[in-house]
Amino acid sequence: MPNFLLVGNGAREHAVAKAVCGREDVKLFVYMSAKNPAIVKLCKESGGEFIIGNIENGEEIAKWAKERGIELAFPSPDAVLAAGVVDELQNAGIKCAAPKKAAARLEWDKNYARELMQKNSIEGCPKFKFFNLHKRVKSLGEIEKGAMNGNEELDAVEKEIKEFVNELGGEVAIKPCGLTGGKGVKVTGFQLKNADEAISYAKEVIERKDGGGLGVIIEQKLIGEEFSLMAFCDGKKVVGMPMVQDHKRAYEGDEGPNTGGMGSYSGKGKVLPFLMQKDYDDAMKIMQKICDCMREKEGAEYKGIMYGGFIATKDGVLVIEINSRFGDPEAMNVLAVLKTPLNDVLQKVAGGKLEDNLRWEEKATVVKYLVPQGYPGKSAEPSEIEIDFEKLGKSGAQIYYASVNEREGKVYSGKSRSIAVLGVGESIDEAQETARKGCEAVKGKLWCRNDIGTEALLQKRFEHMQELRG
Ligand code: GLY
Repeated sequence: MPNFLLVGNGAREHAVAKAVCGREDVKLFVYMSAKNPAIVKLCKESGGEFIIGNIENGEEIAKWAKERGIELAFPSPDAVLAAGVVDELQNAGIKCAAPKKAAARLEWDKNYARELMQKNSIEGCPKFKFFNLHKRVKSLGEIEKGAMNGNEELDAVEKEIKEFVNELGGEVAIKPCGLTGGKGVKVTGFQLKNADEAISYAKEVIERKDGGGLGVIIEQKLIGEEFSLMAFCDGKKVVGMPMVQDHKRAYEGDEGPNTGGMGSYSGKGKVLPFLMQKDYDDAMKIMQKICDCMREKEGAEYKGIMYGGFIATKDGVLVIEINSRFGDPEAMNVLAVLKTPLNDVLQKVAGGKLEDNLRWEEKATVVKYLVPQGYPGKSAEPSEIEIDFEKLGKSGAQIYYASVNEREGKVYSGKSRSIAVLGVGESIDEAQETARKGCEAVKGKLWCRNDIGTEALLQKRFEHMQELRG
């Protein structure tokens, strides 16, 4: 088995590291931006190495990897893919199971993904329009100049924004086109009170250059149940994983500001209990078409994880966004039930030899994120986190370290989500109970959403879909 390089250090990467180290002959090497103690332990036990550095510096990463005889690499976070780390590694002759910058553009430029769907008549694209001071952005930092400048141009754009928001009846989603760590999207009736607030927010996104100044897209507001469907892609073949539902809102009952995701669940089998096989199949068809278009029309073969954010509505499945990596927390749900060794799958992804024969355990999973006080606003100063491993063992839950840092043998919270707690069980409720007990084994100034995976919340999801579909 090759020396395996992982780039990244969150809970999602901890889950990848754990899955990869499931085989004895793997040496794990990790390039990380902060010291994740669990990943470091896996590295050492496997006979590999780690380094703390700038995980977006492809040149340095490729040099480090080359010196260590890395044969297969998995650069994981969105910003790392947008920075072209895969391109640098491949230039150095290292195989990667992740998309190059041009293919990862599906995530780092939301307008690119929408236009790809529109011009190729791919199903599931809601009504949308792109706005920016300049008419088109070719790539990060490369902007075609528009005819007007400054205030004059901003006024003209605001007028167009107003017209489109009115055309959509004032019910809209405002999305910065570039990367915002999952916190940039705002929807009327939720984070935005009304159409006026939506117009102001769209203008602010443009003025402040949120998401790297790539502009903003405005879309019709969609009503339904959201789900994440991730798939392995080898450039041609797209092989789906179990559906997962993440919880973006910070507080119980789906209230409060957006977060990177407060927790998630998957059911027994691939389809969530309140959705249908047809939803799964329709979503898979959309991702297959996107993969085909990337190869045939865009000249940007898509290899790696494709993550479709979908919504099941009364009119069928629509696409919210396409991401170019594992979801976080969703990675922990699916990797907990993947029985085929992950390294074998990633080898096939990189080599263009993926087969539709992956084995999955028939179990439900629940992840709850413990987050610092103040999250997702200004998080409290770093504070110590202690794990009662005896209690954790008794609970049957597993933990994954996220935004934490180890100093002098102690683990401290960072600015973002701290610890993910995973429960696996015969039902979502059983897995939820395990995760809940696991959370009690983690001591620190942290909190979580208690409702994720409970029967009461699932009942609401059933009723919602029944109301929509009759
Ligand atoms: N769970 C949301 C994301 O990974 O983008």
